[in-house]
Amino acid sequence: RQPTDSPLYPLLTAASDYYRQALKSHPTRKAAVTYLKGRGLSGEIARDFGLGFAPPGWDNLLKHLGGDSLQQKAMIDAGLLIENADTKRTYDRFRDRVMFPIRDSRGRIIAFGGRVLGDDKPKYLNSPETPVFHKGQELYGLYEARKNNRDLDEIMVVEGYMDVIALAQQGLRNAVATLGTATSEEHLKRLFRLVPSVLFCFDGDAAGRKAAWRALESTLPSLQDGRRARFLFLPDGEDPDSLVRAEGTDAFRARINQHAQPLAEYFFQQLSEEADPRSLEGKAHLVTLAAPLIDKIPGNNLRTLMRQRLGEITGLNGEALNQVARSAPAPV
Ligand code: UTP
Ligand code: MN
Ligand code: MN
Ligand code: MN
Ligand code: MN
Repeated sequence: RQPTDSPLYPLLTAASDYYRQALKSHPTRKAAVTYLKGRGLSGEIARDFGLGFAPPGWDNLLKHLGGDSLQQKAMIDAGLLIENADTKRTYDRFRDRVMFPIRDSRGRIIAFGGRVLGDDKPKYLNSPETPVFHKGQELYGLYEARKNNRDLDEIMVVEGYMDVIALAQQGLRNAVATLGTATSEEHLKRLFRLVPSVLFCFDGDAAGRKAAWRALESTLPSLQDGRRARFLFLPDGEDPDSLVRAEGTDAFRARINQHAQPLAEYFFQQLSEEADPRSLEGKAHLVTLAAPLIDKIPGNNLRTLMRQRLGEITGLNGEALNQVARSAPAPV
C-alpha cells in the first residue's frame, strides 16, 4: 500500500521537526500556544502527538528546507509546498496554522493537518494525496493509540483531530479519526485486525448521525462472530472533545457503558424510523431495506440472529425472507 522507502519520509520528518521547533521558539508562536492551552491541551500531550506550528508567511519552510530546485520539487511532491501553475512561484502550503502530523501505522510521518487559530476557512487544511499518503486508508491517532496501550481491546472512531487528542488528554487513549472522509470498509478491516470491538462516536449533529450510518454499512462485511461494533450518540451540538472536557473522564466512560448502542440495536431502530413496522406496507419496506444489509454479515450466528429478529418484527417467516434476500438489491 505504501512504498517501504521514499525520499519523502525524511522530508516530512524534517518538516515536522521544523513545525515543532517553531511552536517552541518562533517569535510568532505565542498565539498558537495560547490557542492550544485554550483548548485544554498540556505541553505533554502536545509533545506526544508531535503538535507544531507553521508560522505566518509564505516561505518559512521553503527557506528552512528548500535548498535547491530538486529539493523543492520533492517538497511539492510531499505536499509541503505549492507551485502556482501560472507564475511557477513556489510557496508554503501551511501558513499560520497549528500543525498535526499524521503518522502511518509504523509511526512514519506521512502528512499533516493544519488548523487555523481563528475562524478563517478552511478550518483544517490537509496534505493532498501523495505517493506516501492515501487519506482514505489512514486513521489519525492509530499509531499513538497502539503505542500507548499494551492491550488494546476496543478502538473508538471519532471525526476529528481534536477529538482524538482531547480524549487522550483525558486519559482515553484509544481514539482514532478518519481524515475528513467516511469510515470505509478498508478502515474497518484494519481496525478489526487489531481489536475485536469498535466504538463509533461521532459529532452530535446531522452530519455525525449520517456518518454513523455510513460506518454501520462499512462495518457489516467485517462482522465475524466474536466481533462487535457499538455506537455512542452525543447530545446535540457536542463532539467528543467538547463533551469529555465538559463532563470529565469518569462521566464520559459511564456514558459509554450506559448508552453505547450495539450495532444490531441501532440497525433496527434506524430502519424502523425509515419504514414504520406498525403497518404491513412498512413491514414490507423494512424487509427490503434490512435483508440485503443483513446478508453482508459474514458471522453465521449474528446473521441468523438478525434475520430472526427481522422475522419477529415483520412476521415474515424464514423461507419468505430468503426469497426477499435473493431478489432485492435495494441499498438504503
Ligand atoms: P469538525 O467540523 O467536526 O471539526 O470536522 P472539529 O474536529 O470539531 O474541529 P474543531 O474542534 O473546531 O477544531 C471534523 C474533521 O473533519 C475534517 C478534520 O479532520 C476535522 O477534524 N475537516 C473539517 C477538514 O479536513 N477540513 C475542514 O475544513 C473541516
Ligand atoms: Mn501509492
Ligand atoms: Mn463535525
Ligand atoms: Mn470540535
Ligand atoms: Mn467536531
